[in-house]
Amino acid sequence: MPVRPKKVDDENRRITEAIHIAAPLLRGLLGTNSSLAVVTSDSSALVRTETHRDKPIMSLGSHACVVEPQYASLVDQVTSAVAQYKKTWNRDPRIIVLPGKVVFAAGPDYRSARKSLDHFIDALQSGSADPHTDEEAEPPRGRMHSRVVMVTGAAQGFGLGIAQGLVDEGAHVVLADLNLELATKEAESLQTKFGPGRAMAVRINVADEDSQKQALEQVLSVYGGLDLFVSNAGIARAGSITEQRMEDFDLVTSINYRGYFLGVRTVAPIMIAQHEVRPDLLFDIIEINSKSGLEGSKRNFAYAGSKFGGIGLTQSFALELIDVGIKVNSICPGNYLDGPLWSDPENGLFVQYLRAGKVPGASTVADVRASYEAKVPIHRGCLPADVVRAVLYLVEQQYETGQALPVTGGQVMVN
Ligand SMILES: NC(=O)c1ccc[n+]([C@@H]2O[C@H](COP(=O)([O-])OP(=O)(O)OC[C@H]3O[C@@H](n4cnc5c(N)ncnc54)[C@H](O)[C@@H]3O)[C@@H](O)[C@H]2O)c1
Repeated sequence: MPVRPKKVDDENRRITEAIHIAAPLLRGLLGTNSSLAVVTSDSSALVRTETHRDKPIMSLGSHACVVEPQYASLVDQVTSAVAQYKKTWNRDPRIIVLPGKVVFAAGPDYRSARKSLDHFIDALQSGSADPHTDEEAEPPRGRMHSRVVMVTGAAQGFGLGIAQGLVDEGAHVVLADLNLELATKEAESLQTKFGPGRAMAVRINVADEDSQKQALEQVLSVYGGLDLFVSNAGIARAGSITEQRMEDFDLVTSINYRGYFLGVRTVAPIMIAQHEVRPDLLFDIIEINSKSGLEGSKRNFAYAGSKFGGIGLTQSFALELIDVGIKVNSICPGNYLDGPLWSDPENGLFVQYLRAGKVPGASTVADVRASYEAKVPIHRGCLPADVVRAVLYLVEQQYETGQALPVTGGQVMVN
């Protein structure tokens, strides 16, 4: 593998840090009354060269708000440059330049931000100042209009259903999954249906902190921040106490429990930064837990333990994060009997439970399924649409945090 010069690495790291600080701030400074702006960016070699301080800055024209380093902190530099631009031009800047590093474009949605960025890059390439144009925003649509949502484990199952449901409600969604190929395919099909930039895929291993950070960096460079983080990635490995393999126990714990913590640790600072600039807005973290986080699950203790732990994390995160503008809740769905977690013919829970002898008298997968349907007062498995309704409720509800909301068809009733 070729060794990259240290200078290039340092420069890339500085740009990543600048995006980390400036993009969530710009979302807040340039948002509307009810929501933050979408802030996309470009830090390509062209941008770095053409916006360098050695170049005559005039060529950038009135189109761009140029951030000058007159203050010690980048937050102060960006805030004052935006205020100065607004005062001079009597409008919000659409293009914000950190000379030699990165260009940000802000808009009420990704489409308009992207158009402004494309115009600006064209102008840089042709060497002529582009007249300021206000790109038309998409008409508001849906209960999550223009919000940025990241869903882990979104290549299939509940995660995909949540992403599909929220993009249909107007959100921009990030499908974050270990399976990048499938997540990319699903994100492309959402883009085809809802428009370019309304969905993107990133690779993530939620059990790995570096992977969480790298995924977030990609989200920040495309959308500038996050309004809702759905920690959904989760696995089950059933087995009795004596037969459960230690590596399975550890894998379940590292993804379902540790992975939830790592996700919150990674995204919370971005939401906190957004709340600092917009104290009137709250942001959301939602863990997709399980009814097995509310009552024990026979021969499935690794899973139930990780989900009970998730409830403890949710309550504790909620207490810590509400003062910095983040609500944290769990949703506890019942069994998605039609989804791959249950129905996968090789590793699905029906097969696992049959093998583990969890359902007395069951000799086929169909027997196992029938016994699970019979437990639900509403007589069916949980569907992604049921969970999407719960997500929308928790986001819209401004007076609740730290809760575990059952969506179980009446199978689990909380005291
Ligand atoms: N299916 C159910 O009946 C049910 C019921 C209650 C709760 N839940 C919970 O809902 C969530 C989703 O379950 P599902 O049934 O849709 O699962 P699923 O198996 O259908 O999909 C899980 C997704 O997570 C991804 N994934 C696995 N490990 C990962 C990792 N380390 N990092 C990133 N992504 C990873 C997989 O690639 C897959 O796309 C889980 O947390 C699960 O515990 C499921």
